[in-house]
Amino acid sequence: MSTEQRFDGAIRLPAGTVAVVTGGGRGIGAAFVEGLARAGAACYIADVIDDGQLLADRLTGEGLDVTFRRTDVTDRSSLDALVAACRERHGRLDVLVNNASIYQDLGSKRPFHEIDPADWDRVMAVNVKGTWLASASARELLEASPAGRIISVASSTVHMGVPYFAHYVASKAAVMGLTRSLAKELGHAGVTVNAIAPGLVDTEATRTVNDPGYLATAAERRAIPRIQVPGDLVGAALFLASAASSFITGQTLVVDGGATFV
Ligand SMILES: NC(=O)c1ccc[n+]([C@@H]2O[C@H](COP(=O)([O-])OP(=O)(O)OC[C@H]3O[C@@H](n4cnc5c(N)ncnc54)[C@H](O)[C@@H]3O)[C@@H](O)[C@H]2O)c1
Repeated sequence: MSTEQRFDGAIRLPAGTVAVVTGGGRGIGAAFVEGLARAGAACYIADVIDDGQLLADRLTGEGLDVTFRRTDVTDRSSLDALVAACRERHGRLDVLVNNASIYQDLGSKRPFHEIDPADWDRVMAVNVKGTWLASASARELLEASPAGRIISVASSTVHMGVPYFAHYVASKAAVMGLTRSLAKELGHAGVTVNAIAPGLVDTEATRTVNDPGYLATAAERRAIPRIQVPGDLVGAALFLASAASSFITGQTLVVDGGATFV
């Protein structure tokens, strides 16, 4: 196995930056929250699980500005209330990370013709409609920001054509399409819209939906042959949130240790 050289969180965001991370209560979303907060952003965790409060308490205890707000990305009024809270307290919102997803709750893998239509709709409602609704809700404040950013979480499963999760893979392909379309609509206001496509990441969700040993098998397929962890994605998110990426938009950045090349 290779020596791990991980990002140390050295990027700083401009003073006053306000960020929202949907699905930020656990896993990869929690790593984004921590990274953005350590980079200087006031950060909102928008999730439906109470783990978000525990994370906010821990990071607030370290002197960071992190707030949990129970928010359902499938519900526009819930998102509007969150954006209104950002407007009221800060007068701005600069970075929206669309990370919320049905992933841990996907259930067991199955052939595409055996997927329950209700499960298909649930995955699309959170992963695709939720990304669209959160972006729509945040649009006005992002356009008013000096450097508005939308960063959505896709998946390298789209490039790999991973079987037996057809609804999930299709939903993440839709996130990439939405990223391109919104980039064209928001570029005039200086808002960039990009996606990150993680490879298989060691989270509680991954361990729930995959067989034991799957993480190690995925690691062997990589140019950098080790297990991917949430912290491996934070540098990409901070880059896309920062001025360093201001002329990059509509792109999907694959962060998978060199398993897929697109
Ligand atoms: N872990 C991986 O291997 C991997 C690989 C590629 C992409 N991804 C993507 O990365 C992101 C995070 O993955 P993870 O492993 O941390 O999975 P996860 O299932 O733990 O995280 C998803 C988060 O979204 C939240 N959520 C679900 N429905 C919601 C709703 N209606 N409103 C608000 N929040 C809601 C969940 O409560 C959870 O906190 C997801 O978008 C996932 O699809 C993960």
